[in-house]
Amino acid sequence: VTGSDWGWWRDRRPPAARLHLDTAAAGRSSRAILAATAAHAEREAETGGYVAAAEAEPVLAAGRAALGDLLGVPAAGVTFTRSGEGSLSALLDIWPLPEDAAIAVAPSEWGPNLDAFAARNLRVTRLPAQGDGTVDLAALERMLATAPPDLVHLVQVTSHRGLVQPVAAAAGLCRAAGVPLWVDAAQALGHVDTACGADAIYATSRKWLTGPRGVGLLGVTEPWWDRLTVSAPQLYRSGQPADASPLRLLAITEANVAAWVGLCAAVGEYLETGPSLIWARLAEVGRQTREALADLPGWAVADPPNAPSAIVAVRAANGQDVTATRARLLAEHGIVTTACTVLRAPLDMTEPLLRISPHVDVTPDDLTRLRQALLALA
Ligand SMILES: Cc1ncc(COP(=O)(O)O)c(C=O)c1O
Repeated sequence: VTGSDWGWWRDRRPPAARLHLDTAAAGRSSRAILAATAAHAEREAETGGYVAAAEAEPVLAAGRAALGDLLGVPAAGVTFTRSGEGSLSALLDIWPLPEDAAIAVAPSEWGPNLDAFAARNLRVTRLPAQGDGTVDLAALERMLATAPPDLVHLVQVTSHRGLVQPVAAAAGLCRAAGVPLWVDAAQALGHVDTACGADAIYATSRKWLTGPRGVGLLGVTEPWWDRLTVSAPQLYRSGQPADASPLRLLAITEANVAAWVGLCAAVGEYLETGPSLIWARLAEVGRQTREALADLPGWAVADPPNAPSAIVAVRAANGQDVTATRARLLAEHGIVTTACTVLRAPLDMTEPLLRISPHVDVTPDDLTRLRQALLALA
């Protein structure tokens, strides 16, 4: 497979009704992923939901093991959740955090995460960053030595522009200092290498893995398992094997098991294609998209062309209304994008950005169509 030969990936999906450049919101599932999800729902009707779930356990176990490999966490430390945000909420519930805990974040932190930290009365401190927004690792090392926070939290791939944090290097520094690192891999899983050595890492199914909506996942490394406080109803706990990891207890209440099955199918397709091939292609997609939009009158590309992410942001250089532009791209040109308001990353963003996030199948013609559409709207 070469950079220009991903038509098969598109052919595996239902035909696109619009030009979909919005993977960072939700990717397009393949027919096989949709069929696996639907087949489980049908099986529930045929045999009973709990019998169907028990029958699906080998598929779910294989999916958790594969996700564990991708996240750098043992299979027993992986659990399904309802979303990325649901994973973070669960982590905040179960982690042994001290009173008045301090959590250090980068300026590119995802806005809703900041809200979640505030809601738990965590003290948010800032990690020093370089000019491009990546964490300053030397400054992190000094901070860990002199004024360590209780926790470091990093968003591996930023949602609003093409920024990727050096999470593996940060994990090494945090581990050496005995400070836990949590990684938000919502935009990273299926996009870049996420096996980074974080103590806890979480993601969502629907974006770069192109799995179903309404399902996420959380992984925690084994040294933490005995220290987590998972509260689950006794009624459900009593049915669990004695050696079940506490993470599994997070998933014993009601859930959309068909979506779990669909996520496992998405992971299977991803592994079959080859993660490193996809990572390289998505880096290329980001570069091609930035190049296609370079020098576009009225718009300025936010990151350097070779930023290693397929998330591309453009600034409205003439004060255009980004939300209106997004709406007109959709209504008048059939192009799906996202308008990012500053709430998405309030410590990093100073103005709204138009986000373009193609998947591996984007073609030069697609990018020309986007450029022409933006020119037509000017
Ligand atoms: C960086 C980041 N973190 C977390 C989330 C939340 O994930 P979910 O929508 O699955 O709750 C998102 C979703 O866009 C995200 O981009």
